[in-house]
Amino acid sequence: MIFEPFSIGDVAFKNRVIRSSIGGRTAYYDGTVSDAWKNFELRFARNGVAAIVSATLNVNPVRWSPLEYPQISHDKFVRPLAEAIHAVHAEGCRYVIQIGDGGSHVQTSLFSQPQDGYGPSPGFDLLFGYRSRRTGMTLADIEQAVHEFGQAARRAREAGADGVEITASKGYLIHQFLNPAVNRRRDRYGGSVERRFQLLREVVGSVRRQVGPDFLLGVRISAWDRNYQPVNVRWPVTWPLREFVRGNDIGTYLRYGRWLRDLGVDYLHVSNGYGFINPGETPGRFPLDEVRQFANSTRHLSAKAAVRATILNVLPKVLLDRLLGIGWTTGEAANLGDARRFREETGLPVIANGGFQRRSLVEEALTSGACDLVSMARPLLANPGLLEVFRQGRESPARPCTFCNRCTVRTTLFPLGCYEPLRFDSDAEMEAQILDWSARPDVPEPLPWDPPAVADLSTVGSGDGHRAGRRE
Ligand SMILES: Cc1cc2nc3c(=O)[nH]c(=O)nc-3n(C[C@H](O)[C@H](O)[C@H](O)COP(=O)(O)O)c2cc1C
Repeated sequence: MIFEPFSIGDVAFKNRVIRSSIGGRTAYYDGTVSDAWKNFELRFARNGVAAIVSATLNVNPVRWSPLEYPQISHDKFVRPLAEAIHAVHAEGCRYVIQIGDGGSHVQTSLFSQPQDGYGPSPGFDLLFGYRSRRTGMTLADIEQAVHEFGQAARRAREAGADGVEITASKGYLIHQFLNPAVNRRRDRYGGSVERRFQLLREVVGSVRRQVGPDFLLGVRISAWDRNYQPVNVRWPVTWPLREFVRGNDIGTYLRYGRWLRDLGVDYLHVSNGYGFINPGETPGRFPLDEVRQFANSTRHLSAKAAVRATILNVLPKVLLDRLLGIGWTTGEAANLGDARRFREETGLPVIANGGFQRRSLVEEALTSGACDLVSMARPLLANPGLLEVFRQGRESPARPCTFCNRCTVRTTLFPLGCYEPLRFDSDAEMEAQILDWSARPDVPEPLPWDPPAVADLSTVGSGDGHRAGRRE
């Protein structure tokens, strides 16, 4: 079934494999997508995936996470996006733009700023976000956020995307409003299951108004919150208090799924867990070294970030690995069972995500009716030609992704690529591949001017020859 076409509304997918969001530092510092970004996306399109879901593009002009991630918060970003999408379309690949707002989970910033701590209500979170305290948003802030989502969706359509996907997962702003442990409001945006859904309801309405009734609209949703699963805290509390520390369970999210269907959402992209990174979303190993690197790079931003970095540096690695790594027990196709429940409950097309790499597993996920499409991130980052491997009837590539999660955290600091040494013969080979991922497009467009003749530099550094070269 992997190579059978599938349609959602007017959008036809040539097969069932989608490149899941992979965010990286591939935009210019102002958030405009660069040639490196275009090249990155093109690689997946050329290797045959049916569609690409973009990285989470920021809808808010000041809340970035992290720097050099693409923005869609202003009309000036539309044209470069349109050029890249046009190139992807030329490869027969669909393009869906994912739009999001990090809220209080913004992890990095050029300078520390209050807006990076905005969430549904005041609070403290040691794991996610760099601001020491979360600040409750005013009604005007919320209205502005809804407006920004709508405008971002309009831009996605103007850029020629085939669809737009709203980020209601990852612990981002909308997810914070859905999560009862984080949203303690007592107004129309909090206090009950219905009211915590209000922000998402308004965002969907705003997006739909901007893109029109026929444009593909999806929502990336978590099936469980399991707050603090990343550090495996087992809360000794029982219902009814449980949801106020652990967050929502799948029962609530299935209700939300039905409400989203009734609001006219076209598909659900099912993920898991609360916050990025967490073992529900990126199953595999806890990347302690990388988390330390990240904590050290942000320690200057707040007292909390400094304390976090100190804890991670002072405690011995063995202890931290044990403590932080225990919750990381999720494995292959981690969210497939949940995806099936969403599909059954809502009747909507469902994309399953998280830990797919083996051909038989993808095939089984599709033929068993658990999902309609499968999306992959790390396995395609490791082996962009994975679909060809499947087409040849092979189970997996020679050097598969190990789900080490090094890429997942390093992407905030370094170029996007696979950082698993076990997959390469040498560090030099690994570095060459990483740098190639961020190279200029393979076929540079002709320059609109005649480049000046390049002097012979072979004699550079040899005294007279150097000067002679310059005189020429
Ligand atoms: C480097 C990297 C960047 C990611 N960036 C995003 C992102 O911007 N938005 C998002 O929703 N998910 C993001 N994810 C999560 C992936 O889309 C995907 O859900 C996750 O990696 C699990 O799928 P996989 O097992 O196929 O990798 C990212 C993952 C990685 C590894």
